[in-house]
Amino acid sequence: MPKEPEIDEFLEKGLKQMHSAEKQTIDALEILAKRAKLPELKQLFTQHQEESKKQLERVEQALQILKRSEPKGALEKGREVVEEASGLKFAMKNSAMDEIIDEGKEYIKHWGDTQLGDLALITAAQKVECYEITSYKNLMWIAEQSGHKDIAALLLASLNEEKHAIDVLNTALTHLRLPVKARV
Ligand SMILES: [Fe+2]
Repeated sequence: MPKEPEIDEFLEKGLKQMHSAEKQTIDALEILAKRAKLPELKQLFTQHQEESKKQLERVEQALQILKRSEPKGALEKGREVVEEASGLKFAMKNSAMDEIIDEGKEYIKHWGDTQLGDLALITAAQKVECYEITSYKNLMWIAEQSGHKDIAALLLASLNEEKHAIDVLNTALTHLRLPVKARV
């Protein structure tokens, strides 16, 4: 069955969104790692920042594979050279991740220095991970269905890391002891 060019375009847009999301996540994890009090949380944020750098590279590889698979005319090739030279190649603003990270910053600003500090960090990070897991699952399925097995494999590696990260966050949440007053 001939491939619809729109599918690759859809995949490309999703990958570019994840490129932006990972870049923002790397910066946010720096803040989370610095502020975490629970040792398991601090370790997770530090480790996941390193993983996110690899995830960013995987997204770049996936975009390159996708680009190489496209039949190109001279005009497209010329456009790519300009984009590469200007650093715009993968540029796309991810407004959804902007909002999620801004919300997380609000949590940290408000509660970061209280007894609820780690709760604020976990809450912020869980929301980021949920977004990333859903996005990677969706893109992996599209890549598989459209015959981009190598892209699907790259996305699966990142998806597994994101799933592990949210498992650790969920466990860390159960280790928190909230300063709850007895209700009468
Ligand atoms: Fe990530």
